[in-house]
Amino acid sequence: MQVLLTGGAGYIGSHTALCLLNAGHQVVALDNLNNSSPEALRRVEELTGKKAPLIVGDCTNEATVTSVFEQYKIDAVIHFAGLKAVGESVVKPLDYYQNNLDATMTLCRVMPKFGCKVLVFSSSATVYGTNQEMPLREDFPTGCTNPYGWTKWISERILTDVAHADPTRSFVLLRYFNPIGAHESGRIGEDPTGIPNNLMPYICQVASGKLDHLRVFGNDYPTKDGTGERDYIHVMDLAEGHLAAIEFAAKHEGVEIFNLGTGIPYSVLDIVRAFEQANGLKIPYEITPRRPGDIAVCYADPKRARDTLHWQAKRDLTTMCHDAWNWQKHNPQGYGK
Ligand code: NAD
Ligand code: WQD
Repeated sequence: MQVLLTGGAGYIGSHTALCLLNAGHQVVALDNLNNSSPEALRRVEELTGKKAPLIVGDCTNEATVTSVFEQYKIDAVIHFAGLKAVGESVVKPLDYYQNNLDATMTLCRVMPKFGCKVLVFSSSATVYGTNQEMPLREDFPTGCTNPYGWTKWISERILTDVAHADPTRSFVLLRYFNPIGAHESGRIGEDPTGIPNNLMPYICQVASGKLDHLRVFGNDYPTKDGTGERDYIHVMDLAEGHLAAIEFAAKHEGVEIFNLGTGIPYSVLDIVRAFEQANGLKIPYEITPRRPGDIAVCYADPKRARDTLHWQAKRDLTTMCHDAWNWQKHNPQGYGK
């Protein structure tokens, strides 16, 4: 298949591009480089020996998206493009609603004009909101706690309504848990702008000496060691989940939702210890108050993806920590964007 990857130069998009190319698909990326570098796809080409063309443009612009479909015969779309910083979304909600919802709606408008019916969407475990019951199943109630999360929730709603209006469309909504790590080569990885918000990139920058120490946000949660528990998934497992999803979607009609997680919760201190052991490094940390908006525990029931997509995460926490550091240590300035 020829697959359009919106946001394809980003962290998850570039790893998925590599995985699709290695599986024999063709890819084309549309990215405005708001949070990424063209170097990521250049390295994907280097690793695969195949072309990963990048069109620099905005997915909210109907003329731009139309011109991509005119230029390439697109069979399916994986829609990664979006703004993703939770804290920033609270400060700039309109930017998030405008970018993330317009991008989704623009694709929905343009795709049928070119007979393209298959779309895989980057949703998030954040749509489960403050559910207490774990593990989280796809049929659990949803609801969000910040504008970023609502853009995912509303995009899921829009895609569901659009697919109901035209039952020949095939949309797969993937709810990712916490992607970490990097391709084993250390050539592509996560390249956050400024001080990282997320745990693993923060730990990597402490390990490299860029940041002084980790702040562990709260040790008074009702968890085994008091720190927050999450379902961390290797980004290459996640990428392989997209390959399974796109191949499933191409033979399917209607809307399907899948969690992409391991089903295993790890605490912040588990991650610190695993990182130290995997890489033979010390991560200094202090316990600080909880981060506003954080929940205690969040992990997936991955059964539906296993049964229907025949996909499951394979890489363990040691591999995730090793590969995250391997990328950071060889690319201390990321892609240098
Ligand atoms: P990323 O920022 O690395 O990638 C997103 C890409 O989209 C970037 O390259 C950015 O430049 C591009 N982009 C943003 N708006 C665009 C627009 N209007 N037009 C064209 N390109 C645009 O983020 P990521 O971690 O790779 O995440 C990919 C997707 O997965 C996002 O939608 C994100 O919300 C979602 N997601 C990420 C996580 C996570 O923890 N990384 C978890 C759940 C869901
Ligand atoms: C993980 C754990 C923190 C940083 C976010 C988004 C979510 C999804 C994935 C996109 C928590 C703790 C963190 C630090 C810490 N993204 N922590 N010190 O919050 O689970 O999820 O990214 O959809 O929507 O909310 O991920 O990596 O920020 O935090 O103690 O410096 O690490 O409290 O328990 P989170 P995270």
